[in-house]
Amino acid sequence: MNSPPRDHTRLLNRLYEDYSRHAPASAALADRAKKVLVDGGSHALRLSGPFPPRIAAAQGAWIRDEDGHQILDFWQGHFANLLGHNPPCVSSILTEAFKDGYGLLTGFADRLQVETAEILCRLTGADRVRFTTSGALATMYAVLLARAFTGRQRVMKVGGGWHGAQPWGLKGVGFSTEEGAGFQRVDTAGLPHTLTDEVIITRFNDSDTLHNQFRQFGDRIACFIVEPFIGAGGLVPATSEYLHAARDVTQRYGGVLIFDEVISGFRFHAGDTGALYGVKPDLATFGKIMGGGMPVAAVAGRADILRLIGRESGCEVKFSGGTHSAHPASLLAAKTYMRHLETQASQIYPYLSELGQRTQQTVETAFAEQGIVARCSGCGSDVLPPSSISGLVFPYRDDLRLDSPDVVRNPALVDTVLGEEVLRCALLLEDIHVFHGLGALSTAHTTKDIDRLGDACRKVAERVKANL
Ligand SMILES: Cc1ncc(COP(=O)(O)O)c(C=O)c1O
Repeated sequence: MNSPPRDHTRLLNRLYEDYSRHAPASAALADRAKKVLVDGGSHALRLSGPFPPRIAAAQGAWIRDEDGHQILDFWQGHFANLLGHNPPCVSSILTEAFKDGYGLLTGFADRLQVETAEILCRLTGADRVRFTTSGALATMYAVLLARAFTGRQRVMKVGGGWHGAQPWGLKGVGFSTEEGAGFQRVDTAGLPHTLTDEVIITRFNDSDTLHNQFRQFGDRIACFIVEPFIGAGGLVPATSEYLHAARDVTQRYGGVLIFDEVISGFRFHAGDTGALYGVKPDLATFGKIMGGGMPVAAVAGRADILRLIGRESGCEVKFSGGTHSAHPASLLAAKTYMRHLETQASQIYPYLSELGQRTQQTVETAFAEQGIVARCSGCGSDVLPPSSISGLVFPYRDDLRLDSPDVVRNPALVDTVLGEEVLRCALLLEDIHVFHGLGALSTAHTTKDIDRLGDACRKVAERVKANL
């Protein structure tokens, strides 16, 4: 059994020193970067310690850094690259399009929008869709729509749920160790209290709490936004019972159910994950995988709700503007990718599931051999196939159920420093890049890659053990 608390400061310092020697070109770029970019970059998650590998090329399961290391990547474009980095089916079609003079922004309506929307509606069962450029904007518009449609103020979200940096998504994201705070904190300065007070935090996979909260505030709740497979909150699937409860209470109290499928969409089959649970939300948001490596996201769902953004309703909800929305190159990538996933589904998804299972067994075993309990989140749903996306968690108790961010992100229950900072840097020294302890597989990963991951985890486990 792992026993708390563990102090990894000495090990981390050593790892950081080793990494500074391992990647001098990335180190030099980090120094330059800090003079012009806050913290040396534009996305906090990419800025791993002591400095991130600066990537020069990427193909399939691999990335190459400025120091020439070939690195096996399990981050895969923030979990977007289901077919690996730069899949030929997208890169070739974009190259052709640019050659033919149709790739950069035109600012006009085109055929591509129609064709891409048709595919997305067909694969997700949505009546209507509108495109935007990021998942954060999609979830923001979905919440705006729900508040306008219901005429209510309150927004319910899950503790640990990340819906992008948008006003209603910036509460209850990070776990606070302050007495009793948990996920009740507002995660940013600058928002009015009137807005953050509207956000109610609930616990993922806890139907009793959900029912109680709806009994208390149900007639004031505009929407419940939830991921069918929670991402940043620990890569944990929802139980079927929980999603059905979410559907029941929102219907009963007249609230809008929003499934944020920015991570889960197209991960488990060629469509929305809600369908696998047999639960249809009122609105769903998509991004990441659907874009095929390009920046595109969408709000999809019921025609009577989405009509609020249209002329018929006087454009009551301003889901409008967006210079780069429905960008031709993005839609071409999205259309091509979704079609590829649809036509190749019978090969893609069983392969990913099988590899996912193998990966989870491999890494858990590698740590177990050194007496370190490591468990993969992401598996064990009563509905979803074995997952090709999971985190690696080091629980302090063997019987801990990894069913919620309240567990997986709680440093009193799991060794979060080992699962995040230590593992990421220690594996980078083995030329493997992971995120949340593990990450996402793509069709470009092979069983040989997983064996390599297993060998690297064995080395890391020895190093961790020697420093405990
Ligand atoms: C579930 C979920 N929703 C929304 C977002 C925001 O998407 P984007 O980063 O494209 O704004 C993310 C990003 O990671 C996400 O995981």
